[in-house]
Amino acid sequence: MSSPPQPVAPHSATQDVTHDLWEDDLRQRYPETPSSGAAAAAEKDEFRDYTSDARAGVREFYRQNHANQTVDFVRAMRARYLPLRHRRMGVWEAMDCLNTLVDDSDPDTEAAQIAHAVQTAEAIRADGHPDWFVLTGLIHDLGKVLCLFGEPQWAVVGDTFPVGCAYSDKIVLPEFFAENPDARVPDYSTACGVYEPGCGLDNVLMSWGHDEYLYQVVGRYLPVAAQYMIRYHSFYAAHREGAYGHLMNDTDREMFAWVRAFNPYDLYTKHDQPPDVARLMPYYRELTARYLPDTLDW
Ligand SMILES: [Fe+2]
Ligand SMILES: [Fe+2]
Repeated sequence: MSSPPQPVAPHSATQDVTHDLWEDDLRQRYPETPSSGAAAAAEKDEFRDYTSDARAGVREFYRQNHANQTVDFVRAMRARYLPLRHRRMGVWEAMDCLNTLVDDSDPDTEAAQIAHAVQTAEAIRADGHPDWFVLTGLIHDLGKVLCLFGEPQWAVVGDTFPVGCAYSDKIVLPEFFAENPDARVPDYSTACGVYEPGCGLDNVLMSWGHDEYLYQVVGRYLPVAAQYMIRYHSFYAAHREGAYGHLMNDTDREMFAWVRAFNPYDLYTKHDQPPDVARLMPYYRELTARYLPDTLDW
């Protein structure tokens, strides 16, 4: 195994910009509606705002992500974080931490992270889903506190994918995997790589990011479907493109229906009416307290 990753620069506003670019890029890749009517016009406006600088930013983000997410890197990050001895804090403290992630210079994005959390949860609630699904919407991105622990954006957000086996061409910008040293390891270069066919995703190492981290922090308190939504919501190659079925077992196939059910609430609620967070807070505090302890190990 290689040495642990080098210390990284502390969180910066530049990283916030990259983060937003990643989420905007997802909506570009997976637009909500076919190109017709008002929605299509809105999409086009958004697309026009999506400058070539932004496109270059997304490409650079994925170049770093694909080049650096090796088997050794994932193992090192799991060894660093999964003992869960970084911090003890409750959900609301984590939410407050995430809110410091927004760019201070942009008043429009103040409290953007909690807005995304509550917007996602409110849309799930409005559709009459069970309360644990609503809670999942609220907390699904809290693993992004990794940024505040000094991790670079490429190790926190972005599409996730298995390491230790061949990269699917369904992963965004797959050409950048040529820069990943694992691409030259024969054992990692077959379809199943170091895994058995149908072994189940629980036995597969995923690229490191906020999904796996939060799953490890809160998964034990939630139903299996919620665990899958948290753990695999950024695994677009699987839940949107159908790749990596050869590594899945029956439970994965069944549970990915929930991951797919969750995805639209994550992607397409950003432009909904901003939620009245203060008014909703008593409901969400009660819901959170029903499932999760006051303090979690991070
Ligand atoms: Fe996320
Ligand atoms: Fe999200």
